[in-house]
Amino acid sequence: MPSDIQGIIKGITNVGNLIGQLVFGYLSDSKGRKSVYGIELLIIIMATICSAMAGSAATGVGTLGFLGFWRLVLGIGIGGDYPMSATVSSEWSSAGRRGQMLALTFSMQGWVMAAGNALARLIVDKFKCDSVHTHLPTYNRSQLKHGIVHLSVGNFHRSHLAYYMDVLANEYDQTEWGIIGVGVRSVDKPISTVLQAQDGMYTLISKGCNETDVDVRIIGSLIRYIFAPDAPERALAVLMHPHTKIVSMTITVSGYDLDLKNVDIQHDLHHPQAPRTVFGFIVHALDGRRRANKAPFTVLSCDNVQQNGEVIKRCILKFAKALNNIELLDYIQTKVTFPNSMVDRITPVTSDTDRQYVHLHCGIADGWPVVTEPFMQWVIEDSFCNGRPPLELLSNAPYNVLLTEHVEASECMKMRLLNASHTAMCYLGYLMGYTYIHETILDKHIQSYIEHLMNDEVTPVLPAVPNVDLDAYKRTLIQRFSNPHMKDTLSRVCMDGASKFPKYLVPTIVEQLKRGVIPYMCALAIGSWIRYLGGKDESNRPIILSDVLATELKLHELASETRPSAIEMLSVRQVFGDLANDQRFAETVQNAVKLLYEEGSKTTLEKWISGPRSSHK
Ligand SMILES: *[C@@H]1O[C@H](CO)[C@@H](O)[C@H](O)[C@H]1NC(C)=O
Ligand SMILES: *[C@@H]1O[C@H](CO)[C@@H](O)[C@H](O)[C@H]1NC(C)=O
Ligand SMILES: *[C@@H]1O[C@H](CO)[C@@H](O)[C@H](O)[C@H]1NC(C)=O
Repeated sequence: MPSDIQGIIKGITNVGNLIGQLVFGYLSDSKGRKSVYGIELLIIIMATICSAMAGSAATGVGTLGFLGFWRLVLGIGIGGDYPMSATVSSEWSSAGRRGQMLALTFSMQGWVMAAGNALARLIVDKFKCDSVHTHLPTYNRSQLKHGIVHLSVGNFHRSHLAYYMDVLANEYDQTEWGIIGVGVRSVDKPISTVLQAQDGMYTLISKGCNETDVDVRIIGSLIRYIFAPDAPERALAVLMHPHTKIVSMTITVSGYDLDLKNVDIQHDLHHPQAPRTVFGFIVHALDGRRRANKAPFTVLSCDNVQQNGEVIKRCILKFAKALNNIELLDYIQTKVTFPNSMVDRITPVTSDTDRQYVHLHCGIADGWPVVTEPFMQWVIEDSFCNGRPPLELLSNAPYNVLLTEHVEASECMKMRLLNASHTAMCYLGYLMGYTYIHETILDKHIQSYIEHLMNDEVTPVLPAVPNVDLDAYKRTLIQRFSNPHMKDTLSRVCMDGASKFPKYLVPTIVEQLKRGVIPYMCALAIGSWIRYLGGKDESNRPIILSDVLATELKLHELASETRPSAIEMLSVRQVFGDLANDQRFAETVQNAVKLLYEEGSKTTLEKWISGPRSSHK
């Protein structure tokens, strides 16, 4: 089809779209949403079938006229569906009506797959206006065993571990490594509603820098989802089930601050049948397996935490000790393994635009699709106490899974370069009024700042990483940050700074100070965070703080003074360790804060980049 005609045909759908939005918006208000909802869906289905048949069925009218007409009708249907789905789902999400719709869509996909029905395939194909090919699972999902139970399913889990297991099932016929997702906290309710309604299936869209580099895939490896606050006994039962060989988790960096005095932890110590926390579930399930003389499971942290295996192990042992159960403690210490791992794939928060994209380009009404980048990596210690997926099958690009005994150097490299750069640029970008990471890194001052940070301050004190070309790695990072299709928001990256600084930037600062060097770029990163914690951006708009630890430590109060004192902030040992002891470093941070307040971040950056850099004391 010539591209100008293609344009008209697509344009017609947009016209229909507008008509549909207006007509259905009006109808749903005058007649009530219940009576109208569904009609637009019928229109979409009918119009799609008719558009699909345009090639063969039209006589007299001409194929394009026929197609054009049905595309217009299709547009009306889609246009009607937007306001309807949005309002209906928000109004009735608990009633699960949207869920049924979604389940219907997805079960149709399953049906398509199983029956291989040619017409149905045509519907799916023709619906994709811009011909984005959607890969469906080719394996039989009901034959997947739940080798893995994952606690706290978020977008990152769905773009990383769940994707890898989908590849193993799809491309390598592995049936042992399906995943049961468990939502542990009450905030997991929305994702649980969506995933339960969609039978665990969802759309993963990988978008590269080049617009044409798009890959859409329905992930089928998540075979069930349990919302634990409603059914803790069901969650415990799957954790104790012999099929479960690995219990993995993504509980964010702040999730590892285990405090035995916390009310939920106290509850979990006394209620083995109905835990509320990840630690309670894991330890009581391990105890259940021990008492039943069953093999334990591997406990696998997938968070961006240095030595994440060691860290979760310490938490689990601390909790188990508080139970005063010697046999359990011994079982955990001698039988359970906690592999360290470095995980990497930038995965933004899902936006409504992403939902619309999937709806429009793939014909899928997914309540919570995931957008991610093409790059992925997983460096993992080969230490699994009860078997593991054949990860060696995924050792090549694009999967980049590496089983090794030496994860630490890779972890350091990733966190001190990628996550530290994220942390160093997000507050400056935010203050400057940017919304996304790619806008921020494309600002030439910021880019130069980040290059100085990585090259002059991080790299010289980075432990050697075998077989890695660091310069290439850093160039790739800048490229990944610049990906305009990811729409990774600064507000996501700015979250939980108090938990991120100690892990991503403080180690570099400590090493540099030890060498007698003042790391200026790191100092500016801290300065920009203090300025940000002050609560207003440079246009005087209020900043909504989302930071568990900072709130607990009341850092925003320290920072909100008219002249926030760097030395007082640096004295918060939980975040900065001993940094306050270094007076010249504290003065440098103080200068950054002062300059940021007086001259703004743009001028500060300019001065900083052309300034003395990391000079020796
Ligand atoms: C998938 O597996 C289930 C359970 O083994 C079986 O009942 C079903 O017929 C299979 N479906 C297809 C399409 O092969
Ligand atoms: C994007 O990819 C397409 C097809 O692979 C290629 O022809 C085009 O030159 C690329 N565009 C850019 C800006 O790299
Ligand atoms: C660390 O890097 C990943 C990309 O692998 C990013 O998505 C994530 O948000 C970062 N995590 C933190 C806590 O900064």
